[in-house]
Amino acid sequence: MTMLAAWDWHRFTKFDVWGVLFWVNSVVLVALVIIAVMALVRDRQERAPANLVPFHDDEDLETRRLERVLGWALVFSAVLAVSYGAYWLREPTRQEGSFDYFDEGAVERGEVLFANKSMEAYASAFSLACADCHGSPAEDPDLGKEVAAGGGSAPNVYADPDQEKSFAAAWKAPALNTVLYRFSPDEVKQVLIYGRPGTPMAAWGTAGNGPKNDQSINDLVAYLASIQLTPEEAQQKAAAELERAKTAAAAQLAAAETALEDANAAVPEAEEKLATAEAALAALDDETSAEYVEAQRAVTKADRGVEQANEAVTTATTDLAWAQEWADRRAGVTDGQLLFELNCARCHTQNWSVFNPSNADLPPEDLLGKPGGGGSLGFNLANVLERFADILNADGERVEGSGVTNQHDFIAGGSDANQPYGIGGGGSGRMPGQCNTDTADPLGLIEHRGCQLTPEMIDAIVAYERCGLPAMTNEYGAAEYDEDCA
Ligand code: HEC
Ligand code: HEC
Repeated sequence: MTMLAAWDWHRFTKFDVWGVLFWVNSVVLVALVIIAVMALVRDRQERAPANLVPFHDDEDLETRRLERVLGWALVFSAVLAVSYGAYWLREPTRQEGSFDYFDEGAVERGEVLFANKSMEAYASAFSLACADCHGSPAEDPDLGKEVAAGGGSAPNVYADPDQEKSFAAAWKAPALNTVLYRFSPDEVKQVLIYGRPGTPMAAWGTAGNGPKNDQSINDLVAYLASIQLTPEEAQQKAAAELERAKTAAAAQLAAAETALEDANAAVPEAEEKLATAEAALAALDDETSAEYVEAQRAVTKADRGVEQANEAVTTATTDLAWAQEWADRRAGVTDGQLLFELNCARCHTQNWSVFNPSNADLPPEDLLGKPGGGGSLGFNLANVLERFADILNADGERVEGSGVTNQHDFIAGGSDANQPYGIGGGGSGRMPGQCNTDTADPLGLIEHRGCQLTPEMIDAIVAYERCGLPAMTNEYGAAEYDEDCA
C-alpha cells in the first residue's frame, strides 16, 4: 500500500509519452485478462476433436471469410499509414520534446537530492540536505520574492594554532542561485564530484569517493540551473549586500551599546532580589526549620544572579569596546574593499570564511591571514601587477591600461581549466567568473546570460586589488589608496 502511495500517479495523468503508454498498456492488460477468463469458461464445454469437425466449405472460405481477412488487412495498413504520417509530422519536435522531458525529470530529481527536511521535495532515503548549508527556499527581503539556495553556513569549529582556544565558528556557504554566473555547468560538476577539500563542502561523486553517480550529479546541476536568479536580480542582491556591509560596523556598534544598557539595567534588579532574599532569611530564627534552609538556598541563588549580572556587564563592556574599535578601523572602507570581502576573500584570504567581526575574543589579526594573501583555494594576490601588467604591441610599445583591462576581463570571465591567463598564469577552472556571457553550455542549461556584479563593481575590485591590497595589514582597517589608481 505504501508502495502505491509513494507511486507518482501524477506522471500518468499527463498527456505525454508516459501517460499514453501507461493507459494503452492498462487497456491491453485488462483485455488480455478478460480473453483468458472467457477462454477458460468456454473450454469447460465438451467439444468434438478438431479432426472430426467438418470445416467451412469452399464457397464460404473464398467469399465471406476471405473478404473479412482482407478487410482487416486493409484496416491495419490504414492504421500504419496514418501513424507513419503522424510520426513524420512530429519528428522535428520529437527530439526537443524528449530533451524537455529529460530536463523536467532531472530538475525534479535534483530538487529531491538537494532538499532538506524543511522542503516539500524531501525524501529521507534520497535527499542529501545540501539546503542545510546552502539555504532552504525562503523569502528574500532584498528581492521581495522567494529564492532557493540563497546562501547559509556550515557548522564548524575553529581551533587556534596553539590549540588553546576553540570556537564554534560557522563556515560561510555561498549562495548557489548565482553559481552559474561564476562557474560553467561542467565546473560546477567538478565541485560536486570532488568537493572542496579542507572546507565543509564534501565530495559527492563516486570519482571523489562520494556516494552519488554521474546521473545524480547531473540532476543536481540541472536543479541548480533551474533556480538561477536573472542578472538584474543578482546585481540587485549584490548591491543590497554591499549597502549592508557599509553599515555593518555601525549596526554592530549600536547593538553593542544596547546590549550594555540592558546588562547595566539588569544589575540593580538582581541586587534587589538579593536584598529581598536576605531580608526573608533574617526574619527566620529557627535555623533547623525547612523554611530556613529554603530561604538560605534562595539567598545563594540570588547572590549568583548578581554575580552573573556583573559578568554580563563585563562582557558587554568588552564587546562594546571592540565594536567601537572595529567601527573606527572600518571607517572609510572603500566599495572595492567591501566587494572583495563579499565575493573574493573566501578563497583568497586565510580563514575569511569563519571570520565573525562581532566576536571580540577573536579579532582578525588573531585569525585572518593578510588580505588577499592566499586562502582556502585561491592563491596569493601579491603579484597581480606583474600578472596583469600592460602588454606590448607589435612595435614593442606599452599599451597603456591593457593590464587593467585584462584583469577586469579575467575577473569577469574567471579561469578555464588548462587555459593560460594574464602573463604566465595557468588556469584550473576553479577561479569563478562574474559573467556567463561566454560560458560553454552544450546541454542548454543556462537560462539567463549576464553578470552577477556590474562592470563598475568589478572595476572597483580591480582598483582595490592593484592599489589597495598592497597597503593592507591583517588588522583589517580601511586600505588607503586612490580609487582611480587603476
Ligand atoms: C556541511 C555543509 C554543506 C553541505 C551539506 C553542502 N555544501 Fe556545498 N559548500 C559548502 C561550503 C562551506 C562551501 C564553500 C567552500 C569554500 O569555502 O570554498 C560549499 C561550496 C559549494 C559549491 C561551490 C560554490 C562556489 O561558488 O564556490 C557548490 C556548487 C556546492 N557547494 C554545491 C553543493 C551541493 C549540490 C550540495 C548537496 C549535494 C552541497 N553543496 C552540500 C557547504 C556544504
Ligand atoms: C572559489 C574560490 C575563488 C573565489 C571566490 C575567487 N577566486 Fe580568484 N582565484 C581562485 C583560484 C583557484 C585562482 C588561481 C587560478 C586558477 O586556479 O585558475 C585565482 C586567481 C585569481 C587571480 C590571479 C592571481 C595571479 O596572480 O595569477 C586574481 C586577480 C583573482 N583570482 C581575483 C579574484 C577576485 C577579484 C575575486 C572576486 C571577485 C576572486 N578572485 C574570487 C579562486 C577563487
